[in-house]
Amino acid sequence: MLDKIGVIGGGFIGGVLVQELARRRLARVVAVTDPAPFVNPNDPSEKQAVVRKQSVAQGKALDIAEGAPLIGSDVVLQASRDYDILDGCDMVINTAGVPRKARADGTFPSREELLAINLKVTGEVADAIRKHCPRAMIISIANPLDAIVYTLYKRLGVPKSRLLGMAGVLDSARYRYFVAQEAGVSVENVEAMVLGGHGDTMVPVRSCCRIAGMPVESFIAPDRLDAIEDRTRKAGGEVVGLLGFGSAFVSPALSALEMAEAIIYDKKKILAVCCLLQGEYGVRDLFVGVPAIIGKNGIERIIEVDLTAQEKNGLALSADAVQKTCREVDKLLRT
Ligand code: APR
Repeated sequence: MLDKIGVIGGGFIGGVLVQELARRRLARVVAVTDPAPFVNPNDPSEKQAVVRKQSVAQGKALDIAEGAPLIGSDVVLQASRDYDILDGCDMVINTAGVPRKARADGTFPSREELLAINLKVTGEVADAIRKHCPRAMIISIANPLDAIVYTLYKRLGVPKSRLLGMAGVLDSARYRYFVAQEAGVSVENVEAMVLGGHGDTMVPVRSCCRIAGMPVESFIAPDRLDAIEDRTRKAGGEVVGLLGFGSAFVSPALSALEMAEAIIYDKKKILAVCCLLQGEYGVRDLFVGVPAIIGKNGIERIIEVDLTAQEKNGLALSADAVQKTCREVDKLLRT
């Protein structure tokens, strides 16, 4: 159990996080901050005054706290529109940003298109972490994932072991679920890893996929695996398309909690995590998803796994895509 975990952004993912952090008793105090609902300066002043008194973070925290007696949790919940609530956090989970939403014409913006707006939000988040909890372990979920993590690194300059992007755990869970469904076995039997960036170029690593220790190809034909891997790459968009609002929120929260628990319990668990590469896999100075040992010190060791030529090529292409976005970030950060 940590002393204090902060959740930045109390939207859909933030709400599940706070609820689960309290239910699992992962910290004595869980603090959530979110500036919403935002005041519209064009509204009449009386309406603005009403909105200013509201708080998504406080509303959600109170709702969860009122359920606490029913789950026997004495975790203290704190909530505010302001970042001060993050004072002294040992760990923060960042969900602040704008999710993928349908445009008026029914099409969806790519994760990269959300970059400009989310970069500004990330700048505020970085300032808040520096001011209120500069030593916190940081798990970031906000999209575009790889670029936001890179931005946090540029703005904060924290040790690379303390900054983890959540993408690979989620993408791997999706791959595992689809494989389990196809093979007709328990999800618990399926081990799988998805590496690379958190976008269409991600690399489901078939050569590492095992069902109860046996190669996945013993259970599923290659063309079906191709289809599963394609579905994995597009899985986020599939949920977005079905929901009609926002994006997936339960599985991303559970994925971040898997990482948080590996750190809190010093599990030394191997997870696919978006982390700073400095030569590993032939990539330098970029945050890309690779397997790493996660323990109390955060990212304790990056594992360089043997990949097939096709997988290596896929990872290189994915790193190129991440690099393209990061160059855009560099440009935006200079302006
Ligand atoms: N600081 C803190 N929170 C902020 C800020 C800010 N500067 N700006 C916006 N937020 C809040 C919003 O008010 C909103 O409540 O971040 C929250 C994001 O929540 P949702 O819109 O419900 O999005 P969610 O589904 O939780 O996804 C969060 O994770 O998977 C990614 O693409 C997704 O980037 C998005 C993030």
